[in-house]
Amino acid sequence: MCGIVGYLGSKEAYPILINGLKRLEYRGYDSAGLAIHNGSEIKQYKRKGKVARMEEIAANSPHEGTLGIAHTRWATHGEPNDVNSHPHTSMSGRFHIIHNGIIENFASIKEALKSRGFTFQSDTDTEVLINLIEDIYTEGAKSLSKAVKAALNQVSGAYAIAVIDSEDPNTMVVAKMGSPLVVGISDNEYFVASDATPFLEYTKRAIYLEDGQMATLRRGENIHLYNVISDEPVEPYIHQLTLDIASIEKGGYEHFMLKEIYEQPQSIHDSLRGRLLAEEGKIIMRGVSEYKAKFMNAERIIIVGCGTSWHAGLVAEYVFEELARIPVEVEYASEFRYRNPIITEKDVVIAISQSGETADTLAAIKLAKSKGATIFGVCNIVGSSIARESHAGAFTHAGPEIGVASTKAFTAQVAVLTLMALKIGQERGNIPKTQYLKYLHALSQIPGQVERVLKCNDENLIAIAEEYASALNFLYLGRGVNFPVALEGALKLKEISYIHAEGYPAAEMKHGPIALIDENMPVVIIAQQNANYEKVVSNAQEVKARKGKIIAIINPGDTDMRHLADHCIEVEETDELFSPLLTTIPLQLLSYHIAVILGRNVDQPRNLAKSVTVE
Ligand code: M6R
Repeated sequence: MCGIVGYLGSKEAYPILINGLKRLEYRGYDSAGLAIHNGSEIKQYKRKGKVARMEEIAANSPHEGTLGIAHTRWATHGEPNDVNSHPHTSMSGRFHIIHNGIIENFASIKEALKSRGFTFQSDTDTEVLINLIEDIYTEGAKSLSKAVKAALNQVSGAYAIAVIDSEDPNTMVVAKMGSPLVVGISDNEYFVASDATPFLEYTKRAIYLEDGQMATLRRGENIHLYNVISDEPVEPYIHQLTLDIASIEKGGYEHFMLKEIYEQPQSIHDSLRGRLLAEEGKIIMRGVSEYKAKFMNAERIIIVGCGTSWHAGLVAEYVFEELARIPVEVEYASEFRYRNPIITEKDVVIAISQSGETADTLAAIKLAKSKGATIFGVCNIVGSSIARESHAGAFTHAGPEIGVASTKAFTAQVAVLTLMALKIGQERGNIPKTQYLKYLHALSQIPGQVERVLKCNDENLIAIAEEYASALNFLYLGRGVNFPVALEGALKLKEISYIHAEGYPAAEMKHGPIALIDENMPVVIIAQQNANYEKVVSNAQEVKARKGKIIAIINPGDTDMRHLADHCIEVEETDELFSPLLTTIPLQLLSYHIAVILGRNVDQPRNLAKSVTVE
């Protein structure tokens, strides 16, 4: 959940570390800190709050040096305060560490170290690890690398760490287990980070460490990569990065979230590009074709994910069952992994994750893999842990998503999953040719339709946001494939505005939530012209009869809902199965405007982090 950055080279480390932290702040922003070696000693600055607060002290203090490590924290062990901030230092002050992850057996190690005379400043597991390293070093390990390696062989849990030594301005030791770590390589310099964004302007060459690997980076020497347990050297595989700087900057938008909402015509287009050949009546998906037999014979598809990715899975459940006629189960990864699920070799498990690093999703697929299931990853981040752990997959190609609230990643996930369902459905002989061609054509129109739906970001929508920004609760209702859209709309609102919101299948309202409805309750109803339309109108009438305020997402020309609703937002019609790709857009915008009106930190809402690498 935290972000780590490191630099070793000939440039001043400070600006690289600060810029890197700012790019990784989406991973956590409870506190920030850095440690820089100036050739003779290490200077360290850390502070509760965002990087900018820590910068206030560091910028006006000595921070010269060409070796440094830095950290932005999402608190796990110990409250967010200055003392618990990283970097952490060993008791003697010699070794400094940054850490993303959790050392699960830290308590017993801490007790053992205490009995050997160690004292601790913070409540963190990380301070325990750096003192364990110091203890091993002083007991006779011949080098920092050896001490780190021996310490890592005693800990369980997850980590991406970088360690430096006050007595050695030329070395950094890094290691990975469970949390992401990438090393950027340029001429005589190394960059270390949780993802590649901190060093994109310096190098496009990167090594993604695998779990159980560590590396010693020494000034003027080649990277030394090896296995933590066996000590065997590993030949590094150098990735050529294709990301560019523009794609990770705001580009004139006030918030990343708004930029990312507006990028959806392009991101959906990118997720379909080269795969959906509507004119030729074809879908090309290499990962699906490679595992065609598995999909053809699958007795069940299990979809795992968390948060918004789980909502994309729920949409996919409707689409797969309709088109591919394979039974689908959608599971919270966090529940699935702990309930001894029944999994067989005939199951295909689809793991959905923007970051590709979500700890619960990763653990869920490892479990399913160990039981013989085929794992298909739908991830946004190339090189991510879930992508690498999967047998096959399809990247969503949404581009970097920086806003903590997921928007374009969701629609790209839905687009890719829809393509998969269409392809598998067609190959299983479930979709008549003419209908199949109609579907392909309709899907190819979606990016253009999203472009037009974005025009709903107008005075009407802002007026709705203003009218209801002070509401304490919201209800979101949808039916069929738009039920998960209601869940997603509610999640978007609560995570960035902190207003309580619930998503419900519209027909379930009368089994409980209807008791909440009065003149103060805004109810967002997704009412599209499809088989469910009349039923949704009836549900809207039930809301109206109790004086609830209706905000309806309707199609142009709809008079019934227009008559009933207090406010309407129009989205174009498409095939019912593809409608989530359009109906989601106004819900994202409504949440965005309400959060802005309330003065919330839209891109970095409280208590959240973009990438949840702890369970
Ligand atoms: O990276 P992932 O897609 O695996 O992340 C899953 C959730 O943590 C994520 O979707 C979260 O719910 C978002 N903040 C929702 O906007």
